Amino acid sequence: MLTEYNVEGGDFTRAGYASSQIKKTLKNLNISPEIIKRVVVALYEAEVNIVAHAFKGVISADISNSGIKLVLEDEGPGIPDIDMAMTKGYSTASSRVREMGFGAGMGLPNIKDNADRFNIVSRVGEGTRVTIEIDFAG
Ligand SMILES: Nc1ncnc2c1ncn2[C@@H]1O[C@H](COP(=O)(O)OP(=O)(O)OP(=O)(O)O)[C@@H](O)[C@H]1O
Ligand SMILES: [Mg+2]
Repeated sequence: MLTEYNVEGGDFTRAGYASSQIKKTLKNLNISPEIIKRVVVALYEAEVNIVAHAFKGVISADISNSGIKLVLEDEGPGIPDIDMAMTKGYSTASSRVREMGFGAGMGLPNIKDNADRFNIVSRVGEGTRVTIEIDFAG
């Protein structure tokens, strides 16, 4: 089952929409609360990153019997140094983003912690693609 969501940069009122929809879907599929929590935390952080740091993006969620694969592809400034971006506490969040309560520099490390497989590729001046896979078993 494949679903797609569009994400608008800067639109904090809708940030979290995709993660709440996916949460409902996984509940209906009787996926365990522990797994659902990991998916929702990882997806929410990645979704907010598009809103906070990029211009726009598309989220695709592919749910199979064995797990979920999330691909978040955005058009935005890209990430010049991914190792640096992955460091806990590192953030380039604007003052506006910080006023919204974000910018602790914990999103990407959190996504990695919650994912079974995590990948990030980025081109400066073009955009970023984050892939998150979480298995339903174990
Ligand atoms: N989709 C993206 N496009 C461009 N830059 C990004 C993107 N996602 C993350 N970054 C860069 O990586 C940094 C670290 O991201 P991370 O999610 O860990 O922290 P944050 O978004 O700044 O704060 P927090 O997630 O704790 O609210 C960001 O400050 C930003 O510089
Ligand atoms: Mg973040």
